[in-house]
Amino acid sequence: MSVDYATVEASYDRCLEDGDFFDTFYDKFLAKSEEIPPLFAETDFRKQKQMIRMSVRMLVRLGLGEDGTKLAINKLGESHSRRQHNIRPELYELWLDALCESIKQHDPQHTPQLEQQWQDTMHAGIEMMVSMY
Ligand code: HEM
Repeated sequence: MSVDYATVEASYDRCLEDGDFFDTFYDKFLAKSEEIPPLFAETDFRKQKQMIRMSVRMLVRLGLGEDGTKLAINKLGESHSRRQHNIRPELYELWLDALCESIKQHDPQHTPQLEQQWQDTMHAGIEMMVSMY
C-alpha cells in the first residue's frame, strides 16, 4: 500500500485535538517494559511532550523528502544512539505499538487501513534512526 502523507497528517491533527494524546502515549509506552521508566527518570515531561509532538510530525513528513526534515531526524538518530541516550533498536517496536494504540484511541476516524499507513510512515523514520545506533 502506498502512503498518502496528507491522510496520515490529517489523522495526526485529529489525534492532537483534545490535547492529551501524548499523555496517553507515555502512559502506554512506559508500561511496555520495565526497561523504559528508568530511562525517563529525570525527564521533564512537559518539555518532552512538546518535543515529541514536533518530532512525530517530522517523521510523518519524512517521505516528502524535505532537507530540513531529514536533518532533524538525523539529529534525533544521533541523540538516541549508543553515544547519547543509548536506545536499543528493539525498543522502537514498543514505541510504535504505544503510538498506534494511542492513535486508535484518539482518532475517531481510525481504520485498519489508516493504521497500516501510519505503520509504513513511521517505519521509514525509525529505520533511519536505528541505522545510526
Ligand atoms: C521514532 C521514535 C522516537 C522519537 C520520534 C523520539 C523523539 C524524542 C525526542 C524529540 C526527544 C527529545 C530530544 C532529544 O533528546 O533528542 C527524545 C528524547 C528521549 N527519548 Fe526518544 N524518541 C523515539 C524513540 C525512543 C525510544 C524507543 C526510546 C526508548 C526508551 C526513547 C527514549 C528517549 C529518552 C530516554 C530521551 C531523553 C529524555 C530526557 O531528556 O530526559 N526514545 N526522544
